[in-house]
Amino acid sequence: MPSSTIQWFPGHMAKTRRLMQECLGQVDIILEVLDARIPYSSRNPEIKKLLGQKPILTLLNKSDMADPACNILWRDYIRRSGGMCQIVDCVSDAVQKNLPDIISDILKEKLERNESRGMAGKHLRAMIVGIPNVGKSSLINRLAGNAKAKVENRPGVTVNKQWIQTPYGIDLLDMPGVLWPKFDDPVVGENLAITGAIRDRILDIETVAMILCGRLRTRYPTLFCARYRLEEAEISALDEYDLLQLVGRRRGFLQAGGSVNERRTAEAILDDFRSAQIGRLTLETPPAPKEK
Ligand code: G4P
Repeated sequence: MPSSTIQWFPGHMAKTRRLMQECLGQVDIILEVLDARIPYSSRNPEIKKLLGQKPILTLLNKSDMADPACNILWRDYIRRSGGMCQIVDCVSDAVQKNLPDIISDILKEKLERNESRGMAGKHLRAMIVGIPNVGKSSLINRLAGNAKAKVENRPGVTVNKQWIQTPYGIDLLDMPGVLWPKFDDPVVGENLAITGAIRDRILDIETVAMILCGRLRTRYPTLFCARYRLEEAEISALDEYDLLQLVGRRRGFLQAGGSVNERRTAEAILDDFRSAQIGRLTLETPPAPKEK
């Protein structure tokens, strides 16, 4: 079973809630990691209720693969909703250059208090949380500066807590908190299957790729057509199955007898999306600001 596959049961969720709340007293800030390509679908629905007693800084990670205009829309939406939010990625070194200062700024009063009590230099403590595959381990590795073993995606956080010191005066809980996604919205399930965050056995790979083709035709017709040498006019009326077939044919994924190898086509399309070969794409748009 891939590490990104988690079966969440009510017992797991209860245990996660308890473990995280136990850790909460020991941290100064929560770093909530979202996948910038699907910020809504990659958010735990209970994050505020679970961890809201501490400041939560939301990080739109994988921004290098997401639509730059959507990154800004999402950041502004989260800020308008009263949250703190930054656009980040774990492929450049910008995150370790910028994030420590942002965290220190958020925790300015705490730092001042430490100083007035003769504890200047006391490290701040952060807990990184998020659903599987959003980049929690990558962020720990970036901030810790030395490659750590890949954290296994299991519900909850480790019971034997250890702290990883970073060179920035911020200690990180050594295991990220693995949260559950929203279960009740089928579109969320589809988005998580598209990004590879869940490998839901209910959705086979061909179905996931068909859904993705449909979304890309609507949201990014030019990029989608450019990648697969399609004309917008020829795809506008196709159903998702015929769309997948056409992509397979254009890519030359044919099997004996000349029919399209649907599995190979589906894998290629999903690989293309997951490695940003089609372009920088975001599958969700936040609600527009209300008119004043
Ligand atoms: P997790 O702990 O939340 O489960 O996520 P993890 O850090 O394991 O990251 C999941 C995948 O996403 C990894 O790829 C990782 O390299 C990639 N990733 C994380 N952050 C970013 C980012 O900002 N930009 C991009 N482009 N990719 C990111 P993988 O293919 O599963 O593993 P690997 O190729 O790193 O071995």
